[in-house]
Amino acid sequence: MERIDKVLSNLGYGSRKELKGIVKKGLVKVNGEVIKDNGLQIDPEKDKIIINGEEVYYRKHIYLLMNKPEGVVSATCDKYDTTVVDLLEAEDAIFEPFPIGRLDKDTVGLLLLTNDGELNHRLISPKWHVDKVYYARIDKVVTESDIKQFKKGVVLDDGYKCMPGKLEIIGDYKEGSEVHITIQEGKFHQVKRMFESVGKKVIYLRRVKFGPLDIDENLEEGQYRELTDEEINLLKGN
Ligand code: URA
Repeated sequence: MERIDKVLSNLGYGSRKELKGIVKKGLVKVNGEVIKDNGLQIDPEKDKIIINGEEVYYRKHIYLLMNKPEGVVSATCDKYDTTVVDLLEAEDAIFEPFPIGRLDKDTVGLLLLTNDGELNHRLISPKWHVDKVYYARIDKVVTESDIKQFKKGVVLDDGYKCMPGKLEIIGDYKEGSEVHITIQEGKFHQVKRMFESVGKKVIYLRRVKFGPLDIDENLEEGQYRELTDEEINLLKGN
């Protein structure tokens, strides 16, 4: 059970103080009855709340799929840079979502945001083997030997041995190659460091898949949308 003014305030219906006034004016009904107490204990999952004649749509969690642009950091707040949360509409930001894992400032593409801590935990843990697929442009030609090394697990600059990664060459890009790389971990700068360990540089990186979800090509960079119920179930493995 929770205080009604707290629930409504969290859903963006005003501050606790404003809600006190709204309740006083008799504009809030719970299960058909006008209420007078802004501290009334309610069950937001079960009780039917009407404010100003409009039914309140309650939900605890929000799940967003963003096409992250360049120049924006995957954080909830930052002293210097714009964050992915700064790109959200107020009605979504009110749920206090945070990014699931991180993309570098210069990496673009699929980024999920949620306030569902349990799902976040599961999706970022390598234990659950969630595939993340990146499209990358590499400064030099990628070889069969690189593919083999990635498959075995390359060793990063700090001595960490990566889990096997799947590297597929798509074609040429200038003097180098275009590839798809699939990994299940999310170490700091992982893809870039994996290529560095075979003497190459990532010059462009875009995440195109996260677990069962593909990037939404209808979203411009910087745009986002809510996941559908079907997509949420897919992510949760239901
Ligand atoms: N690997 C990287 O190097 N950078 C990213 O943003 C994601 C994966």
